[in-house]
Amino acid sequence: MSGQPPVITVDGPSGVGKGTLCQWLATRLGFHLLDSGALYRLTALAALRQGLALEDENAVAAVAASLDVRFVARADCSPGILLADEEVGDRIRGEDCGAAASRVAALPAVRAALLQRQRDFRRSPGLVADGRDMGTVVFPAAELKLFLTASAAERARRRYKQLSEKGIDANLESLANEIAARDARDAERAVAPLKPAVDAQILDTTQLDIPEVCDWALKWAIRRLGLMENP
Ligand code: C5P
Repeated sequence: MSGQPPVITVDGPSGVGKGTLCQWLATRLGFHLLDSGALYRLTALAALRQGLALEDENAVAAVAASLDVRFVARADCSPGILLADEEVGDRIRGEDCGAAASRVAALPAVRAALLQRQRDFRRSPGLVADGRDMGTVVFPAAELKLFLTASAAERARRRYKQLSEKGIDANLESLANEIAARDARDAERAVAPLKPAVDAQILDTTQLDIPEVCDWALKWAIRRLGLMENP
């Protein structure tokens, strides 16, 4: 190990269950959590609110560099996200912010502006980092790299269920189309495209439920980080 707190990276496409796994793993291990997608979503929201064109790379990168964001624990222990003191956790989860996030995430200057901010999340006793390029770019020397996949149809179905449970109106077909478009943008972009690190452990979760995925990840964490079974 590097002498720094250990990092577990969890990468993969949208709707694959990374968020649920990362929250579970961070709680289970007592580690910090980096939701890197939230930083791209917040950048997109702040840029739109300032009336910027999402293609205006320098202006959007300036927004990313000066984001006034705080991640806090809500009373029910779920993560809250404050943008200039306004709670925007639910606002940024919408598909509109997801699509806008993947547009600003394709801009190299925006990614560069967010790089150090993401690395600063590495604090004792350790970090679980959720994203697309955690294992390839942000933490290339991470102690453990996980990469989740699932069929696009299954991911659309999961997102639909998640939104319905929150009482948010959604349409399965348009969700599937949005997921396919976002996948293509994330995988085909020139900087930090979505792909597993060469040393990542890959799991196809299409046929698995959440406890099975969590169990797989915990076994890897115990093996790689030398953790005890019941920390
Ligand atoms: O993970 P989440 O769906 O919140 O991410 C929103 C968008 O942010 C993704 O579609 C992707 O374009 C971008 N993103 C990224 N790199 C990351 C995390 C997210 O490009 N590490």
